[in-house]
Amino acid sequence: MGNNEPCGNAPASMIKALVELRKLSKSFDRAPSLLAGAQSLPAVRGVSLSIAPGETLGLVGESGCGKSTLGRMAAGLLEPSGGDVFIKGLPLWDKKAHKDYRAFRRSLAGVVQMIFQDPYASLDPRMSIGESIAEPLLCSRRCGQGERKLAGDEIRERVRVMLRKVGLEADAAARRPNEFSGGQRQRIAVARALITEPAFVVCDEPTSSLDASVQSQVLNLLLDLQDEFGVSYLFISHDLAVVRHMSDRIAVMRNGKLVEEGDADQVFFHPAQGYTRLLLDAST
Ligand SMILES: Nc1ncnc2c1ncn2[C@@H]1O[C@H](COP(=O)(O)OP(=O)(O)OP(=O)(O)O)[C@@H](O)[C@H]1O
Ligand SMILES: [Mg+2]
Repeated sequence: MGNNEPCGNAPASMIKALVELRKLSKSFDRAPSLLAGAQSLPAVRGVSLSIAPGETLGLVGESGCGKSTLGRMAAGLLEPSGGDVFIKGLPLWDKKAHKDYRAFRRSLAGVVQMIFQDPYASLDPRMSIGESIAEPLLCSRRCGQGERKLAGDEIRERVRVMLRKVGLEADAAARRPNEFSGGQRQRIAVARALITEPAFVVCDEPTSSLDASVQSQVLNLLLDLQDEFGVSYLFISHDLAVVRHMSDRIAVMRNGKLVEEGDADQVFFHPAQGYTRLLLDAST
């Protein structure tokens, strides 16, 4: 487990789970059309979930049911319409709960990260790989509460170590994203997400765009890094076999709502809901 603490002062007694989603909702405004006025489309409706330290919660459900929207809110990237996300007991979106909300938000780079589906879109083509990987580290260290500013040499060494961990040569740091394959770029995205040793990483279809052999390499890398750092994952995927392989527990969403949640084998072999059975049948 990384040692990074978000800036804040929640008493330890209040910290029940590493991550808690409480009654999370999100609606998107739709532009008015000829046939209908302005509409608000509910994408996530009152989802509550918790994730323990070092645990992987798999999230499944058909396309458009709200998985990515939920994941982006859990990672602190998208503001909910209702409810809140608590990490180590601290609310991500309640500004009044923090003495210095901007400092708290900056410190989050050291606590929660996200890995996206598309390794081409997730790295800035203008930045070297080394700069991209170092960015969350620099961002979280600017928080200034209990974090020491790192020297340039230290940052370069941490990037080199991380590149080795994800199976890339240290000299990759000077190169640009367009010089790497899709699988290599996803390893770089993993390095970037884990360099701060965050407590929680949202993985949104992290291997869906990779071919089967590269997919299993990246999944095994995520598992190895979880063993090493004790990170918790929210693991979103269409591929139920992959979700079962990766997850301790599985949550099933339908139309923005949570319909089932339980131990991975339980949900996989003895689903309580007909909808989960249909999803499983459709995937085999
Ligand atoms: N930025 C946005 N603006 C408007 N509507 C959005 C936005 N993002 C998502 N939606 C809508 O919210 C709903 C849920 O989308 P979301 O991307 O969360 O689904 P998903 O479960 O991740 O789907 P997939 O499995 O295809 O990735 C969809 O109806 C989508 O069109
Ligand atoms: Mg999605």
